[in-house]
Amino acid sequence: MSKLHTPRWAWVLTGSGHFFVESFEMIRSLEHCDVFVSKAAEEVLRMYKLKLDFPPNMRILRDKTASAIPVGEFYHGVYHSVVVAPASSNSVAKFVYGISDSLASNVYAQAGKCRVPSIVFACDTSPEMLTRAPHGMVEVFPRRIDLENTERLKSFDYTTVVESLEDLSAAIEARREALTRDG
Ligand SMILES: Cc1cc2nc3c(=O)[nH]c(=O)nc-3n(C[C@H](O)[C@H](O)[C@H](O)COP(=O)(O)O)c2cc1C
Repeated sequence: MSKLHTPRWAWVLTGSGHFFVESFEMIRSLEHCDVFVSKAAEEVLRMYKLKLDFPPNMRILRDKTASAIPVGEFYHGVYHSVVVAPASSNSVAKFVYGISDSLASNVYAQAGKCRVPSIVFACDTSPEMLTRAPHGMVEVFPRRIDLENTERLKSFDYTTVVESLEDLSAAIEARREALTRDG
């Protein structure tokens, strides 16, 4: 494989059933990106019959170590930005409470400690919504704690919370422009 281009994007897939297909398209549009996959995301992707087929220069990093070994690269300037999309209620809660006991929560926590900005696409964001389950659409009623956690995360440093695909796309574009502007 050719030399890894750094700094690059870090994209985190969590086990939320929303917007995998759209997230995959956005990942492919980023030239230099690694994909961090939570254990739940691996299972959920299989249920939706989706494959992690990204260009060979994009590394797939799975949750296989207790200490989240791949995340150590944040301390060596390998990543300029994090995108967590889709973000499960579970991972959003861990981000808010400062828990780092999984690959996804470690990416967010260590990015913060390295002052690398994160864009988090929280999906359980309205009291009543429809979502695509593996065998069709189902109703979901996110709990008050889920909605409150999303709101709390919005006040965190180095964090942009988005709640729609359009806003996710716009936040990525804004970050791309900032990177170009700042060199
Ligand atoms: C088919 C399927 C769809 C799911 N969709 C969601 C979802 O939309 N939002 C959510 O918060 N959790 C969803 N979950 C549950 C998460 O996968 C579960 O909370 C998991 O522990 C999240 O772990 P992670 O945050 O480390 O990825 C789903 C689970 C399954 C099996």
